[in-house]
Amino acid sequence: MSRPRILLTRKLPPEVEARAIRSYDADRNMDDRLYAREEMLARAAGKDGLLATVTDRIDAELISALPESMRIIATFSVGYDHIDIAAAAARNIVVTNTPDVLTDATAEIAMLLMLGAARGANAGAATIREGRWKNWAPTGMLGREISGKRLGILGLGRIGRAVARRARAFGMTIHYHNRSRLDAASEESAVFHPDIVSMFAVSDVLSIHCTSTPETRGLINRRSLALLPPGAILVNTARGDIVDDDALIEALASGHVAAAGLDVFNNEPNLHPGYLELPNAFLLPHLGSATFETRNAMGFRALDNLDAFFAGHTPPDRVGA
Ligand code: DGY
Repeated sequence: MSRPRILLTRKLPPEVEARAIRSYDADRNMDDRLYAREEMLARAAGKDGLLATVTDRIDAELISALPESMRIIATFSVGYDHIDIAAAAARNIVVTNTPDVLTDATAEIAMLLMLGAARGANAGAATIREGRWKNWAPTGMLGREISGKRLGILGLGRIGRAVARRARAFGMTIHYHNRSRLDAASEESAVFHPDIVSMFAVSDVLSIHCTSTPETRGLINRRSLALLPPGAILVNTARGDIVDDDALIEALASGHVAAAGLDVFNNEPNLHPGYLELPNAFLLPHLGSATFETRNAMGFRALDNLDAFFAGHTPPDRVGA
């Protein structure tokens, strides 16, 4: 029996590719180029499945041009805002993601950003690298402690809860806003706010963990930033489009937001150049899930979904319709 034909849109970790070629007739992206639309479609011809990533914009137009043979899109990511789920459903194409396996790695990056932003890691490291460090100074390069502060979590899901657990070890008190309140066991004594107004007002640190949806896009804007206590710190490991860049850059420049730790951006990798001018912006290039352990686990999870689908089962991480 011939094996299902799948297209890997990006180069994946070696163990993941090894498993992919054992189970599938897999078309790999050996030099890890970003395929332009025409090339993606040409390579998708005759394929049964797509193993895609967050760098692929799988919109309605692309989906409508995919070959008849295409039956599943397994994204190597927990987020699937880059895929038009409704358009896929309309074509009977199943979509899956990779939840759970990147929770700890992303929570670690959120803590790194929180600490890095609070303590001015960016400016401090630049002082050393550029040979500008003169001496230890009682009043030099002072940051803020996160210990004992209030952490507002926008989106207390899997990753938000993992961040909350780590933040509690720093003595932080946890506040959160979700569309609906969690049960007590999931809250782990975090304080629920039915709206962002009351939560932002108590967020010495605000960490964003919600998904990108039409409702959350641009939620961090001039109006909402003004609700934060002066000197607050903002962390984003979710999606860049939740933040209005001009508004955040303005708030960082004025000091109303003392510092930001950002791992995700609008229009990656071409982030707003204004961030580069700001010493109080601690910036990382979308590293949330970038560990050996997690990237393997994401690949295996995507393959588990493909395996289940081609064995005639509902894949465990099916999303949308
Ligand atoms: C995801 O999985 O959605 C991440 O953004 C990629 O690390």
